[in-house]
Amino acid sequence: MDESSEIHGFYKMSVDERLRLIKRMAGLTDEEEQTLSNTGGLPKEVANRMIENVIGGITIPMGVAVNFKVNGKDYLVPMALEEPSVVAAASNAAGMARVKGGFTVSNTGPVMIGQIQVVGLEDPHGAKMRLLTHRDEILKKANEQDPMLVSLGGGAKDLSAKVVSSIRGPMLIAELIVNTGDAMGANAVNTMAEAVTPMVEEWTGGRVLLRIISNLADKRLVRASAVFEKEAIGGAEAVEGVVNAYAFADADPYRCATHNKGIMNGVIAVAIACGQDVRALEAGAHSYASRGGRYKPLTTWEKNADGDLVGTLEMPMAVGLVGGAARTHPAAKAAVKILGVKTATELAEVMAAVGLAQNFAALRALATEGIQRGHMRLHARNVAAGAGATGDMVDLVANRMIEEKKIRADRAKEILVELGQK
Ligand code: MEV
Repeated sequence: MDESSEIHGFYKMSVDERLRLIKRMAGLTDEEEQTLSNTGGLPKEVANRMIENVIGGITIPMGVAVNFKVNGKDYLVPMALEEPSVVAAASNAAGMARVKGGFTVSNTGPVMIGQIQVVGLEDPHGAKMRLLTHRDEILKKANEQDPMLVSLGGGAKDLSAKVVSSIRGPMLIAELIVNTGDAMGANAVNTMAEAVTPMVEEWTGGRVLLRIISNLADKRLVRASAVFEKEAIGGAEAVEGVVNAYAFADADPYRCATHNKGIMNGVIAVAIACGQDVRALEAGAHSYASRGGRYKPLTTWEKNADGDLVGTLEMPMAVGLVGGAARTHPAAKAAVKILGVKTATELAEVMAAVGLAQNFAALRALATEGIQRGHMRLHARNVAAGAGATGDMVDLVANRMIEEKKIRADRAKEILVELGQK
């Protein structure tokens, strides 16, 4: 772009004014302008309040994964993402898990950590002790910030402190331990951490710098497990295959990154549908996977005494139903209604089950037929549609291309001609 990107007062413009300006600067067509201007199920004024400098919206598909049974309860699981195969794989896996009763889940409660960095201390260990003697006063001050949360049983529950050695010398890190209830908790925790700053400075004699929630939410864990009957998943060979695939991820971080990515395919798709902070979830998941100093799988896969496959998952899951997009985005609200969860913890538990299902589906496919066959089916449909096929023609053209093992736009067009469509 030749023009300067320095646009004064951009933030003061209306959504439409901003879009018109960007259209001119970026050379957008009328159609492109229309596309961006269509904010779908999210009213423009709501979008404009959610983030800054809004010019429009982008829509991604929301599907519903079926067959999920979690702690004996059935769920329809909304999933929003752009990647083909994920919703189908989750549904399939959940169906296979049902044979042995579905998924069993539990959680540690919605507890988050707020960190307060204290620098400039001559005696960081002494400061730590002085601070901890004032634990109750600090918790009281923190809880005054959120009487509503406290009335619902949440709030700051504990204070801990540690001295970390950094490249800038030792630092004292005070940590507020906060039960955030049905909120994801970033606002509540950050407000509390900021509010206690003068007290922390007074009692430590140091200077407070950062006050912020930790996304390594290892006090807000969810756990899921499931038994997959060997006959239901393709026999003993499939069981061995999944266990070997897991062993590969456990032994090699290059594979482990992809293994965990497969879990997050499910977790993040539900999170997007339900209006969650997906960056926080990703940060929590991967930092938790590295907590022992080596990057490890978030799941385990074993063969039990009956020869069936047993999967488990444990990961942080900082999600909320009050505050954030879960409350303001109409589509997210509808998604939460479809899912039928009543608390943030229930949402987190179902997400853990989806993550485990997704991981199972990926490992089973990879260890047996490979994932490309399933992908190719969807890819072929996309190619067919891209070449102009509509309605029933999409599947007809896609199936022909799959049979011929020629999934290409030029072949799709030829087939359409052969079928008298063009
Ligand atoms: C693709 O989005 C996810 C997989 O790569 C996960 C895995 O390899 O386990 C299939």
